[in-house]
Amino acid sequence: MRPYEVIKTKRDGKLLSAEVIRAFIDGYVKGDVTDYQMSAMTMAIFFRGLTPPELAAWTRAMLESGEVLDLSETPGVKVDKHSTGGVGDKVSLSLAPLAAACGVPVPMISGRGLGHTGGTLDKLESIPGFRVDLSIADYRRLVKTIGACLIGQTATLAPADKKLYALRDVTATVDCIPLIASSIMSKKMAEGIDALVLDVKVGSGAFMKTIENARTLAQTMIGIGTEMGKSVVALLTDMDQPLGRTVGNALEVKEAVEMLRGEAPADYTELTLALTAEMLVLGKKAGSIDEARAKLEQVIRNGAAEKKLHELVAAQGGDPSAIADLSRLPKARTTIAITATSSGFVTGIDSESIGLAAMTLGAGREKTTDVIDPGVGFVLEKKLGDAVSAGATLVTAHVNDETRMPEVMERVRAAYRIGATAPGRRPLVLERLG
Ligand code: URA
Repeated sequence: MRPYEVIKTKRDGKLLSAEVIRAFIDGYVKGDVTDYQMSAMTMAIFFRGLTPPELAAWTRAMLESGEVLDLSETPGVKVDKHSTGGVGDKVSLSLAPLAAACGVPVPMISGRGLGHTGGTLDKLESIPGFRVDLSIADYRRLVKTIGACLIGQTATLAPADKKLYALRDVTATVDCIPLIASSIMSKKMAEGIDALVLDVKVGSGAFMKTIENARTLAQTMIGIGTEMGKSVVALLTDMDQPLGRTVGNALEVKEAVEMLRGEAPADYTELTLALTAEMLVLGKKAGSIDEARAKLEQVIRNGAAEKKLHELVAAQGGDPSAIADLSRLPKARTTIAITATSSGFVTGIDSESIGLAAMTLGAGREKTTDVIDPGVGFVLEKKLGDAVSAGATLVTAHVNDETRMPEVMERVRAAYRIGATAPGRRPLVLERLG
């Protein structure tokens, strides 16, 4: 079938065979299927979906578009974590050293910012010198010697997803269950893991706005993982406000290091511990979640987790002195306070608007070719339930280009809802599946 016919078949809601799907994805990786044809295809999938057999074929074709690693030379159960994407989600930065410090090898292939959400690779690259484009040989070596390595998709690992991810980011085809599930699972299955913990975000800052959709996404991914012989656990977690206090690349790295020092906000700390504890249990380094949490608290207290991050940064070409002395991380030229226009309690923070405002500041990309500004972003001075008075600072913006501020300010103010009564507390971990 020619690409035109494949797109038309999906557009009209008819079934695609595994062979046709494979040829379409292979053609995309080779350049025979163009970006505009793949854009039309992903939009057709956005509206028409993929049936379970189509999804299995799509994921397999993405996975097998490149090399599938076998890390059996590293002893132990290799476990990774993947988040479906949130705002202020810097969990991977602290989770990988925490798990590695407890003896769980973490081979992690991460992504860049997508839509309004940030990406681990962009955050890591705000550490001077940090390289996410290591060779597979180096990746293998670091997983074995240090116990963790965080890289981007290479030309050989799930190359179809690498191309597709960037395309979806700029064609409004991110928030689509089959495309997210196949994207995540193809990458994760390629990286050499034995088990996987999924953080499926729900709420205003997530691609899944409802618990039902988040559950479907989690079940879809668990289904794909199980079929491929991996243990998969998913936590459905709240993304109705940005995680922690910071949004923006270097600002988030700073908060991640503070987490490893036991000095980070409670929500971010709690989520990191909950996800890493699952990894320790899957990795057979703890017999229960309680035991895992005790181990994690110990490696925070005794400094082993922070030391592991220093090792990891140095091994990936980064400057560990920028982690030891956080004032050496990139900084924006100036800060500007965004203030409240009324008094009351913060009853809602639309995380997607905060993510888009951060993107407007330069913390994310509007076009695939945009260059990230690592120093810009936000510190959220007020979070859900906090009391505010008119004129108080809601958010401190870290800014390099003041001409963007009118739009940023409007977006941030619109994101904050202020009401007369404080909202009830919502649990951070809403459900556990797997
Ligand atoms: N994370 C991914 O890796 N892929 C998606 O499509 C969405 C979030």
